[in-house]
Amino acid sequence: MTDPQREDALIAAARDAALRSYSPYSEYSVGSALGFADGSVVTGTNIENASYGLALCAETVAVAKAMADGVRGGLEIVAVTGPADKGGGAPITPCGRCRQVLNELAQLGGTDPLVLCVGDTETRRVRLSALLPHAFGPASLD
Ligand code: THU
Repeated sequence: MTDPQREDALIAAARDAALRSYSPYSEYSVGSALGFADGSVVTGTNIENASYGLALCAETVAVAKAMADGVRGGLEIVAVTGPADKGGGAPITPCGRCRQVLNELAQLGGTDPLVLCVGDTETRRVRLSALLPHAFGPASLD
């Protein structure tokens, strides 16, 4: 699979995950897909709660799924999709908490994943280290 094909597949996986979003309060469906060095893909979607502040973001859910299955590294690429009809269709970027959560898994494996911030017509391609410079992570505790 070429890099563009891989990126397209991850975006499709994120969009598919967003179909299962539980977001009755914000009505803002987010999908995420994590691509690993071994070719595996783990998806997530946002899960909200009647206690609004307890919402779980799509990226955090995906990282939790992967880590609960024992994954501790190899994170190479992340796709994040939002709803086409919100935010003027601009590329969605991970919230600050999700940047930190993604950084944990990335730093564990010594990678700096490419983050695909997917919008209606544009995809912004940015490294996690650019979204979260000077990150605090597991290495900081050594
Ligand atoms: N959300 C995500 O899933 N990921 C982000 O990076 C930003 C925000 C979710 C949380 C909430 O369910 C909805 O989008 C609106 O904030």
